[in-house]
Amino acid sequence: MIPAHINRDQIYIANIGEHAGKEVKLHGWLYNSRHKGKLWFLLLRDGTGVIQCVVSLQDVGEEIFSRCEKLSQESSFVVTGTVREDKRAPGGYELLTKNIEIVHIAQDYPITPKEHGDTFLMDHRHLWLRSSRQHAILRVRHTIIKAIRDFFDGQGFTLLDAPIFTPAACEGTTTLFETDYFGEKAYLTQSGQLYMEPGCMAFGKVYCFGPTFRAEKSKTRRHLTEFWMLEPEIAFCDLDGLMDVEEKMIQHIAQRVMRDCMAELKFLNRDISKLENIQAPFPRMSYDDAANYLLDLYEKETDPERKELLKFEWGMDFGAPHETELTKLHDKPLFVYGYPSAVKAFYMEPWPGRPEVCKSVDLLAPEGYGEICGGSERMSSHDALLARIHKEGLPEEAFKWYLELRKYGSVPHSGFGMGVERVVAWLCGIEHIREAIPFPRTIKRVYP
Ligand code: 4AD
Ligand code: MG
Repeated sequence: MIPAHINRDQIYIANIGEHAGKEVKLHGWLYNSRHKGKLWFLLLRDGTGVIQCVVSLQDVGEEIFSRCEKLSQESSFVVTGTVREDKRAPGGYELLTKNIEIVHIAQDYPITPKEHGDTFLMDHRHLWLRSSRQHAILRVRHTIIKAIRDFFDGQGFTLLDAPIFTPAACEGTTTLFETDYFGEKAYLTQSGQLYMEPGCMAFGKVYCFGPTFRAEKSKTRRHLTEFWMLEPEIAFCDLDGLMDVEEKMIQHIAQRVMRDCMAELKFLNRDISKLENIQAPFPRMSYDDAANYLLDLYEKETDPERKELLKFEWGMDFGAPHETELTKLHDKPLFVYGYPSAVKAFYMEPWPGRPEVCKSVDLLAPEGYGEICGGSERMSSHDALLARIHKEGLPEEAFKWYLELRKYGSVPHSGFGMGVERVVAWLCGIEHIREAIPFPRTIKRVYP
């Protein structure tokens, strides 16, 4: 067996170039292998990369050579050998093998190079994570999260974690997950926003980044029941100021992904020119203008099936087809602001002089990815907020603390939420959001 302290000075394939010409010990799993006479070619994967280990009967002798035969797909092993630069090899290096120690033989690894269906792969998500495609997507996710944190930390924001158990709804009562909290009702959080508002009154600029939950009945390629949301909240910030932050952040994320994940993007066949377009400022369109444009499209449409999809009138929230049409107008993300209050959450500041409209803004990603950020200026008047809570039939008692923020130095403040998986799916150019999170939770899936 391999001693437990192996991690101490472990060498990884990602840094193999630093060891060219030297002897190294690598630890990993068999990705693939091939045999040709007195040679074995083992593809070793260690989580940071893949390297070809060349095993020659002449160099290692009969006994070690015969171990190659036993190594089935995903068997774990430790290999010692000399690193050799080889321009033709994937990654630019290969290993001239001296010794192989088998750690564990995998029996009948279920995911083979042949095609598998989505359900089969999702049922084997715990193993599917090892495949190159999933690996690439989740490396991009890692980079996006790091970029988010670096961006806000660099702008003087304080990270403030929001609770998961909450006494009340933030984003409407229809998607709440209810729990039995020692005999009382508590809900899994739909958003950390309500807790970031006191946060920004205490720290000026804050953000939270954590899991959020929605009992979404919708089975679309954009919806999860558990997803990770970034939520910044800024005191003394209005709607325009909020859009400035959003576009700078999105540009920063896209540039980081292009800087750090080019290999992953290429593996995923992502059209890089689309990502290069993600440069601030982004176009800003009012809901009214968007509505006029959509209405016009709807009226001109002659295909009855498309017409049904594009059905629209002022006051409606956008469906996916509407968002797609709007984003076709530009080659970068689009802000739509000033939605009807009726389709948005209770806490949004009304538009001055137009109470039927609120100071909300959604950021829509191009190429059909749709809404990636939703935000607003928050209501700052105690009485107006209380009236709205009553109007929506929300439990006043649960919002007592939230209302108090409007009693002690209330200020205009704004914030937004960004669903990380939607951004991962968009930047990777993948079809479905479920591949953008390590273990997706959807209406139909809580396994594995
Ligand atoms: O637009 P939403 O519902 O806004 C809020 O929750 C605000 N309280 C955020 C805030 O202002 N602090 O959600 C924000 C974002 C959406 O734009 C979308 O990217 C993502 O969260 N999102 C989902 N992602 C995956 N699956 C779902 N079911 C999602 N619902 C929202
Ligand atoms: Mg929204």
